[in-house]
Amino acid sequence: MQTGDHSHEQMPIRPIERPEPIVRARSVAHVVLERSDVEKMAQFLIDFGFHPCEATLGQPRHFRGHGTFPYCVELVPSERDAFVGFALAADSAEDLRTLADAEGVPIEACVGPGGGMRVRLTDPDGRRVDFIHGFSTVAPMETRAALLAVNTPMEKQRVNAPVRTPVQPAPVFRIGHVVLQTTSFDVTAQWYMRRFGFIPSDINSLPDGSPMLGFFRFDRGAEPSDHHSLAILEGPEPALLHISTETLDIEAVGQGHQYLRAQGWTPHWGIGRHKLGSQVFDYWQDSVGDEWEHYADGDVMTDQFPTGYHPLNRGGLWSWGDDIPDSMRPDDDIPEGVHPKVKAFIEALQEPPRPWLR
Ligand SMILES: [Fe+2]
Repeated sequence: MQTGDHSHEQMPIRPIERPEPIVRARSVAHVVLERSDVEKMAQFLIDFGFHPCEATLGQPRHFRGHGTFPYCVELVPSERDAFVGFALAADSAEDLRTLADAEGVPIEACVGPGGGMRVRLTDPDGRRVDFIHGFSTVAPMETRAALLAVNTPMEKQRVNAPVRTPVQPAPVFRIGHVVLQTTSFDVTAQWYMRRFGFIPSDINSLPDGSPMLGFFRFDRGAEPSDHHSLAILEGPEPALLHISTETLDIEAVGQGHQYLRAQGWTPHWGIGRHKLGSQVFDYWQDSVGDEWEHYADGDVMTDQFPTGYHPLNRGGLWSWGDDIPDSMRPDDDIPEGVHPKVKAFIEALQEPPRPWLR
């Protein structure tokens, strides 16, 4: 099918029903990955802007950012390369108790830098989701000052002060979000909203009105949260799509890009600016091809910001910058007999995103 006829009628978009949450999580604390070559992955993380936590003996397994979490990434030596899961931070020990009771699971001691207590759950796709509290934080690491002043035609705020930022790893501060592929958007979205209070910030739907890609933020009330800390895409099998980190500013995204190029790592997509969330982004492949994002200048919202509903299409994934890489694009020919939802998804991604792009 290559008729170029993508004039599907958009059915009314089905709004997301939000369940009453058991608790409200407040941030992503860390991610856990199994790696067959820990040393090579460690080198990627260091070049990407993380720092090894003090190793007790030999190869460090935990990596911190420039922020206050005791660690952001744990590597588990393994025979396979896999995403194990991630940890969400709780507001209180009381919330840990509430979730443990509701799920009928114990509260256990965390293992790893910072200590603390955890409630360990398994999401509908089999990922580990730890809800943690009581861990000790660390002092933030020093970075250069963020570029505060920007010159515009109307106002020159930066005088006698050139922009000369160093080529160095982008200082990542923390895990910003994880993007998961799941076989059922509804089941997985409901599971996370119910347990952790996620608010849908923006939803991309297929022409039949069903949600396909959702961006979810933490409910911190009047305190702003990132536009999304979790994103969910429906797809043929469960997968990790990417892990995102917040870095200092747009300059850090650019210089971090040069640094990773110099170290020989593989760029994936960027630099560009996203539409939903507004982050200036840059995606890289790690030692096994998993994707990691640097971002800066993302949107934050309070609990009052309404959910946005949009038809899914390729052009809606970014505001400016390059088209998505070929590896993210479906083949031109849609196989016969494919599920109508898959067909609609492929067609949405085939839609030419800009007049000058195929
Ligand atoms: Fe992202």
